[in-house]
Amino acid sequence: MEVFSHIPPIAISFTLLVLLLAWDCKAQSPSSNITLARQLDSLLQNYAYGAFDHPRTGTPYDGVAPSNLTGIKVAVLRLRCGSLRTRGFRHYKEFDIPTGVIVQPYVKRLAFVYQNLGNWSSFYYPLQGYTYLAPVLGLLAYSAVNISAIGLSELDILASSSPISIKFADVRPALSGFTVKCVKFDLNGTRELTDLNSGNVCTTFRQGHFSIVVNSSGIAPAPAPNPIPSPGKGHKFKAWKIVVSAVGGFVGLLLLILLVACLASYRKKKKLMEMQKREEVGEVLQMGQVGNTRVPVAPMTRTQPVIENDYVP
Ligand SMILES: *[C@@H]1O[C@H](CO)[C@@H](O)[C@H](O)[C@H]1NC(C)=O
Ligand SMILES: *[C@@H]1O[C@H](CO)[C@@H](O)[C@H](O)[C@H]1NC(C)=O
Ligand SMILES: *[C@@H]1O[C@H](CO)[C@@H](O)[C@H](O)[C@H]1NC(C)=O
Repeated sequence: MEVFSHIPPIAISFTLLVLLLAWDCKAQSPSSNITLARQLDSLLQNYAYGAFDHPRTGTPYDGVAPSNLTGIKVAVLRLRCGSLRTRGFRHYKEFDIPTGVIVQPYVKRLAFVYQNLGNWSSFYYPLQGYTYLAPVLGLLAYSAVNISAIGLSELDILASSSPISIKFADVRPALSGFTVKCVKFDLNGTRELTDLNSGNVCTTFRQGHFSIVVNSSGIAPAPAPNPIPSPGKGHKFKAWKIVVSAVGGFVGLLLLILLVACLASYRKKKKLMEMQKREEVGEVLQMGQVGNTRVPVAPMTRTQPVIENDYVP
């Protein structure tokens, strides 16, 4: 029957949809995102330290990000903690580090790893309802006692007098009437929205990841010259589509099962009706034993054979 040939594709697509839905939910949970972002921090620390080759203290070096993360930029800067505290460091990429930065636990030298997540910003730091107007930038402090160390954990730093400032260079414009905000993620993934200072400057007293965002409704629909994929609206739409098609697929499957059941019972009824009809016509049906039920059984032979000898012309 034609209907049966449609079952496997529907069943398969339904299963795929359920799997997709489950995967999508997992990808959106905040805990898994910060885990991913922390794995990236660790990976980028290793790659940034790879740029150290007879490093001079106080000179920034650009590192090379892994080839599967094209679009991400890293750099590293080694400083004496004493000098950091008394002199700070001006213009380390977008970051301006003031005097008075305290480092804990005490190390003689530290390294600041700089990250520019570029088009990976919303992948590692998805922000529902908001669109990034600039890439996510990271500033993380590690011990530089051993410059070939990998898998280091961050030191704790605190700007004790004035904050560290971040001056964003290429900021996409937002629609007028929408307030542009600074967003800050600490190492636990906790996010904070703060006011943007004039000149596209955000400030922080601690290390972490930083960017500029606007409510997703405040972004022009036309593609911007330097688009950053937004997780906000697009993601919501995708989730909706998946939900609708999953529900649709499920209902479709139910209807199909009902249809098959109906067809089967119709065939059974039709058979019975045919038997009854034959009975009415006068065909004698013998009752036979099949299992535990008595059912009508057609006789082996419908017409008695005529013996030729009996025929007398
Ligand atoms: C990129 O490659 C590194 C190994 O070089 C791996 O640890 C990391 O998970 C990869 N990242 C992605 C996003 O594929
Ligand atoms: C970012 O852009 C690079 C090419 O410039 C591409 O290979 C990569 O897949 C992009 N990343 C994302 C998350 O779209
Ligand atoms: C964005 O703006 C719209 C309308 O202006 C509002 O309904 C929505 O709640 C805002 N979203 C966020 C995340 O603030």
